[in-house]
Amino acid sequence: MSFRIQPTPPARPNRCQLFGPGSNKKLFEKMAASAADVINLDLEDSVGPNDKDMARANVIEAINTVDWGSKTLSVRINSLDTPYWYRDVVDLLEQASERLDMIMIPKVGCAADIYAVDALVTAIEAAKGRSKRIALEVIIESAAGIAHVEEIAASSPRLEAMSLGAADFAASMGMQTTGIGGTQENYYMLHEGQKHWSDPWHWAQTAIVAACRTHGILPVDGPFGDFSDDEGCRAQARRSATLGMVGKWAIHPKQIAISNEVFTPSEEAVAEAREILAAMEQAKANGEGATVYKGRLVDIASIKQAEVIVRQSEMIANS
Ligand code: COA
Ligand code: MG
Repeated sequence: MSFRIQPTPPARPNRCQLFGPGSNKKLFEKMAASAADVINLDLEDSVGPNDKDMARANVIEAINTVDWGSKTLSVRINSLDTPYWYRDVVDLLEQASERLDMIMIPKVGCAADIYAVDALVTAIEAAKGRSKRIALEVIIESAAGIAHVEEIAASSPRLEAMSLGAADFAASMGMQTTGIGGTQENYYMLHEGQKHWSDPWHWAQTAIVAACRTHGILPVDGPFGDFSDDEGCRAQARRSATLGMVGKWAIHPKQIAISNEVFTPSEEAVAEAREILAAMEQAKANGEGATVYKGRLVDIASIKQAEVIVRQSEMIANS
């Protein structure tokens, strides 16, 4: 074990990030009234090229006037390969109130992408005398992004969260699919003539979780495109939670409750975790490092596993 202690990520709920196009003003009040922990106002791919200026102005007005309650408020800017991103950063930092919490950088490919945005944000914060430091979040959605995921996770003290963007990721990887997350028809194993579907997003998710956990960043699953398929969305979210992700995007309001449910540890899970902790307290009192709980081994590592669930539950309850 490294002598370095694994850093803890920001202690705020991030079960659901609700997206809405910056060009669609009528959604803003509904987004603010929703049960999502995080709001992402989008200037990027849900906004057409002719609407970029309009969307930017809408978003700044909405940050300054809508009551966002206690939600984390984030704006997705355009990616660094476009002519739009610098204006997004400049206008947001110069014109948006300190209610803005975070900027999301899409399609990051290396640590220098975050460095560039950080440098611009830092200069404008100083010039404008902004007192609240803007946080950053990124989307891993390219081959370069996943290849450099660890240096990206380590790139800036402003960085709080990292999402997997399945659609752009699939395109960049040359994957033969048009689905945004979830089961892919052709990704199966054959066993005695029966098909068993595997998870093509698994590797990217675990790479993101490992990079995030190493550097104290929140790992988040991105969109599930088929918002008519609640059970598919729930299954995707459950896989992500099992792998260590803390939340998922919603691209339609009906996905919010699914994420909030899946990424809030259930009462049963918390009760079992507390029982394991109690069993291990008893073992410790008896001078033992391991014991039996419901017919299975629990030991000192089980304490840490149980604490993950209890801590997450308490953090959500206290938020
Ligand atoms: N946030 C808040 N409310 C939303 C919403 C969102 N993202 N998307 C839809 N709604 C509202 C609608 O306005 C409608 O409200 P109403 O009942 O008061 O009329 C209700 O939810 C039902 O919407 P529905 O008719 O089913 O969907 P739609 O056809 O209006 O919109 C989308 C469908 C996909 C275009 C829309 O959900 C959307 O823009 N999603 C976000 C896309 C995005 O941001 N993508 C970038 C990240 S991948
Ligand atoms: Mg994308």
